[in-house]
Amino acid sequence: MTDDPITSDVLVIGSGIAGLAAALAAAREGDDVTLATKATRPEGSSSWWAQGGIAVSRDTPEEFKDDIMAASDGTADSEAVDVLVENANEAVEDVLLETLDVGFDQNSSGHDFTREAAHSEDRILHVDASTGKHIHVPFLNYIDDHDGVEILDDTAALELIRHEGRVHGAMLESDGEVDPYFAGSVVLATGGIGDLYPRTTNPDNTTGDGIGMAALAGAEVEDMEYVQFHPTACVLEENGDADVAFLVSEAVRGEGGLLRNGDGERFMPGYHADAELAPRDVVARAVKAEREATGEVTLDVSPLDFADEFPNLADRCEEHGVDWTDGIPVAPAEHFLCGGISVDDRGRTTLDRLYAVGECSRTGVHGANRLASTSLLEGLVWGLRAGEDAAGADPEPIEAPELLERDPDLPERFARDKFQRLTRVMDENVGVERDPAELQRAMAVLRRLKGEVDAYVRTRTSRSLYELRHASVTALLIARHAAENEESVGTHNLVDASEDPPESTAD
Ligand code: FAD
Ligand code: SIN
Repeated sequence: MTDDPITSDVLVIGSGIAGLAAALAAAREGDDVTLATKATRPEGSSSWWAQGGIAVSRDTPEEFKDDIMAASDGTADSEAVDVLVENANEAVEDVLLETLDVGFDQNSSGHDFTREAAHSEDRILHVDASTGKHIHVPFLNYIDDHDGVEILDDTAALELIRHEGRVHGAMLESDGEVDPYFAGSVVLATGGIGDLYPRTTNPDNTTGDGIGMAALAGAEVEDMEYVQFHPTACVLEENGDADVAFLVSEAVRGEGGLLRNGDGERFMPGYHADAELAPRDVVARAVKAEREATGEVTLDVSPLDFADEFPNLADRCEEHGVDWTDGIPVAPAEHFLCGGISVDDRGRTTLDRLYAVGECSRTGVHGANRLASTSLLEGLVWGLRAGEDAAGADPEPIEAPELLERDPDLPERFARDKFQRLTRVMDENVGVERDPAELQRAMAVLRRLKGEVDAYVRTRTSRSLYELRHASVTALLIARHAAENEESVGTHNLVDASEDPPESTAD
């Protein structure tokens, strides 16, 4: 037993939409909630960056469900999808409209629902294409003002405190100090894995921490091979590499934007009957193939009133010196992890008193490929359900793992070299297309890298070292699951890399 244990009823880790929803629900149950987040600003969470919006059920939940199932190629878990679509409208009504009063765009008949790829109807609530910040900022402020919740910002969870299958808390680092923090329940809401790839739409420091911590504590993870690449990240060519400047929302294609290859030809009709509105994995592969075959792909926004409909994106183009009247240069970039920590319909993991919600979790809702604008919704619905379930357990402080007095600094070169090696291997071997032989090689490299990082963890304690550790654990899980899955489906696309690259299929 530690001398003066720091405790709360519920410890939530992460301040995106999922963590905020879990904190809200647990506080509504009367529990004391602590929300620890390594973000120092709202922009540190993917939730802030969300563009297209949040989907809800329009005519019937069944139609929404059908689209989710179709986008996932039939691999989504039907019961989990039921939980999502049947709770969507109530969660949005309760939290976003009544509690936070989010000002979604309106038209003369009410909410201005928009459409994105693979949706069969207009069902997405949005605020132009900057929906995330219009939800995230009021939500963060509301939770910050809530008497039942204490927010610890710039505070990173390094590892879970676990004893005999039960999770009792987490080791939290703030300003270089590491302390055990005990709770009746711990809710992981740590978001995605963007930093594992060189090109991502996610904010910095998205290193798969929750997945790494949960896996190291023995929790089950599933579907890790299903990494979703967004087809239209605006890229700027720097030193021969395409660097992501910002995401161009799928809503732009929903409103009529067309993809053209380096020869100026529209190519998507040659790949899929739904052309630009085909499922995201199909469009990502097509954009990759056309870039390889013809040198570049641009998003032609001339069919729509771009500056009027997407003012924030027009501004971003201007900031980055992109003349959108010539088309926006785009490429696929890592965007979302469909798999993660296995959870049930209340966000319960396979470890007692440990919950996971949002992008770090695997609810089964997305299967092998996520339908656009369902991630904010999943975070909201599961966050509320998990927070409610997590409430009511008393903290039981135990002996915490001892983190020795160690050198707090991770040598910059070590971290940079390891991260570079990790992102290179993920990009080349575990990206939009995967060759089975290369996956085996990638696993060997990642295993070695993880071993080197593990050795460092025995001598040093720093936030960046633990981020590197979680990234290496998570990367290895992705490569391993990809190597074990012999079926090309959704985002997991197996190829024989020794074959010639595909020719352009433009009409
Ligand atoms: P996040 O919002 O990423 O929050 C994770 C939190 O965990 C952060 O606060 C982070 O600081 C914290 N954290 C991480 N590790 C630790 C640690 N070790 N200790 C403490 N804190 C930690 N989805 C949609 O549905 N609609 C959209 O329109 C949409 N557009 C998108 C546009 C962009 C550019 C991006 C990047 C994503 C978009 N998505 C969209 C996906 C969606 O935004 C995310 O999947 C979702 O917001 C994830 O929410 P979350 O709460 O799980 O994680
Ligand atoms: C986008 O606006 O294209 C992103 C939507 C999403 O990821 O759900």
